[in-house]
Amino acid sequence: MNATLWWQGGIFYQVYPRSYQDSNADGVGDLPGLIARLPYLRQLGVDAVWLSPIFPSPMADFGYDISDYTGIDPVFGTMADFDALITAAHASGLKLILDLVPNHTSDRHPWFLESRSSRDNFRRDWYIWRDGAPDGGPPNNWLSEFGGSAWQHDAATGQYYYHAFLSQQPDLNWRNPQVRHAMHDVMRFWLRRGVDGFRVDVIWHLIKDAQFRDNPANPNHRPGHPPNEALLPLHTTDQDEVHDVIAGMRRVIDEFDQRVLIGEIYLPIERLVAYYGKNLLGAHLPFNFALLSAPWNARSIESIIAEYEEALPPGAWPNWVLGNHDRPRIASRVGPEQARVAAMLLLSLRGTPTLYYGDEIGMRQVAIAPGQVRDPFEKNVPGLGVGRDGCRTPMQWDAGPNAGFSNGVPWLPLADDFARENVRNLDADPASILNLYKALIGLRRQHQALISGSYQPIAAKEDLLIYRRAGESNSVLVVLNFGDDPVELVSAEIGLKGELLLSTVMDRTGEKIAGSLDLRGNEGVMILTPRTG
Ligand code: GLC
Repeated sequence: MNATLWWQGGIFYQVYPRSYQDSNADGVGDLPGLIARLPYLRQLGVDAVWLSPIFPSPMADFGYDISDYTGIDPVFGTMADFDALITAAHASGLKLILDLVPNHTSDRHPWFLESRSSRDNFRRDWYIWRDGAPDGGPPNNWLSEFGGSAWQHDAATGQYYYHAFLSQQPDLNWRNPQVRHAMHDVMRFWLRRGVDGFRVDVIWHLIKDAQFRDNPANPNHRPGHPPNEALLPLHTTDQDEVHDVIAGMRRVIDEFDQRVLIGEIYLPIERLVAYYGKNLLGAHLPFNFALLSAPWNARSIESIIAEYEEALPPGAWPNWVLGNHDRPRIASRVGPEQARVAAMLLLSLRGTPTLYYGDEIGMRQVAIAPGQVRDPFEKNVPGLGVGRDGCRTPMQWDAGPNAGFSNGVPWLPLADDFARENVRNLDADPASILNLYKALIGLRRQHQALISGSYQPIAAKEDLLIYRRAGESNSVLVVLNFGDDPVELVSAEIGLKGELLLSTVMDRTGEKIAGSLDLRGNEGVMILTPRTG
């Protein structure tokens, strides 16, 4: 299959705007700061930037609690800054994707203020209100993802409202057509302004059980895990009707040219693929997060890829993700050497890759002292290791004050190794992870096989993962060593013959390969081979 659409051939890059570049010394990143860093993104070679929320928000969940869907929060700048951003991004060949958060608003959103004002307010039914149980407790046993009951009692009208996340994030009622229309208009507002698509927050949460049945207990729940996992979310997420809602969003996307709909979905692969929708008229890219929690070894990754490739509906375009603002950084999960192997994996698999800011410089999870915690999830459920601040720390640009991120006091602490691990330093080091990312991105651009070639697994043992991306005129053979030990690979069968394009160690480009290959521990290589099979 030939990739013809930009979001199939392109590489996405997530920016967490609070932490990218501050321009006004308030310690929080902003839009003018991001504009100043566009040349970096262009140099890196990515095609699209997905920006976490920038809309007016009380920041209870750092922008995922929106009080105005069609404005810009002053901490990030103004609408004029946004227009300047989109103009500058497009001028440098970058697409811009916004974060759409339709599942819930802030409790300060005018819609919710109206809704909670009285039982007969015309917006009452825009949110999910229920009477308490006969004993006065919550209507049912549903739990908030961030700890405690998902129901908040509201004294003014004597009912409870549902919030899948914080009580400051009441869920909208997507069974109400007025809610759908309002959110469609929000989408059109931004699409008309030129945005190239949306990443839709918690899209699998949008519809909940119409009968409000209790969720069943999770037999596998163990102490030390987040309390909401004590129940299986049978009636609160992944309801069949959600696919109609998504198809409705997709119709809005399709009113415009060449826009993309990405869905945030944490589900097992067999459920995930349903989000491509009937006749592929759902999300273009239901985020595939399988690598975020995969045990990091060759066999587990091999079977995840196989399962995903097998489950994709015909014509559906795959995608892969290694990190985001909710999960521990890849470099800390797998270590600095395997982070390079992970980069080669991400950028050589079949499907659109999404990079998380800072992963390209090997940024690590930063330890957050108890007094520095900002994440409401960690504050609500302390001590279980769920905190997300450590993966949201400021981008490390240079060795200057605050890593060049801000002239003020950064909202989260910086990594203590930023004087060494920063863009300027790593750029100057030809063998750095940053230059590895650039080389990988360059190869993806250069070799059609890496974008639209098929994925052909090749049987391998122990720590090796081997596959071929077979294109029209040639193929790229990818051999990844997930272990510390060197390996010698000798095989005529797999067509071990060609030119070495890139090693994760960055010192073998151009080497001729003929029948055997020596790999060092934690090394991955890509080999350009003549078209076979
Ligand atoms: C998504 C976001 C996360 C946020 C949650 C509630 O999972 O990625 O950061 O806290 O939704 O909006």
